[in-house]
Amino acid sequence: MGEEWLWDQYAQSPDPWGFDERWYEQRKYALTLAALPRRRYRRVFEPGCSIGALTERLAERADHVLACDLVPTAVERARRRLADLPGVTVHEWDARAPWPGTDFDLVVVSELLYYLTVAQARAFCDLLLQHLAEDGHVVGVHWRRPADPHVLTGDEADRVLRDTGLPVLATWGDEDFVLTVLGRDARSVAAVEGLV
Ligand SMILES: C[S@@+](CC[C@H](N)C(=O)[O-])C[C@H]1O[C@@H](n2cnc3c(N)ncnc32)[C@H](O)[C@@H]1O
Repeated sequence: MGEEWLWDQYAQSPDPWGFDERWYEQRKYALTLAALPRRRYRRVFEPGCSIGALTERLAERADHVLACDLVPTAVERARRRLADLPGVTVHEWDARAPWPGTDFDLVVVSELLYYLTVAQARAFCDLLLQHLAEDGHVVGVHWRRPADPHVLTGDEADRVLRDTGLPVLATWGDEDFVLTVLGRDARSVAAVEGLV
């Protein structure tokens, strides 16, 4: 799965993907946040949080965010970055392990699943279904282009999320990434607000 590669990235740079610098990432975060069907969530899970750049934005829309990453350096950086946000908890955790919490009404799987094999990604999604609240939403965001050390393409990762059978509420994509919103509560935002 390229774990050494991940460790090396964090050893070489404080922000290996340029989350805080690149317009590409900032625009993608804006699209991700804009796609969330609910204004506010109770309990959000972000597996594979890296240095906490997306976590910080999710915290503005949630009472609590649990953010986890495999790489201890990433966890340490995310903890430092998010230390002033009382609703945010950061843990070291492997996405191939049992889940660190339950009853999430939002799970944001952003740039994570392509590090796993299909079997591991499917096992992750089985646990996702077990730990998603009755009214829960899931957002998947994945880079579409070939990249090391990705095991799956972004579209294959997205397909595994869709194979959960959760209703797809919205999709967005360009040449670079695919974004899919799924949810147990399949009502549209307009329907929830009584517009239709
Ligand atoms: C490209 S970053 C995405 C960060 C964040 N979710 C975002 O979209 O801004 C991918 C992160 O997933 C983490 N990761 C990769 N495999 C993992 C695994 N098996 N368990 C937990 N985290 C993992 C990496 O360490 C890295 O920090």
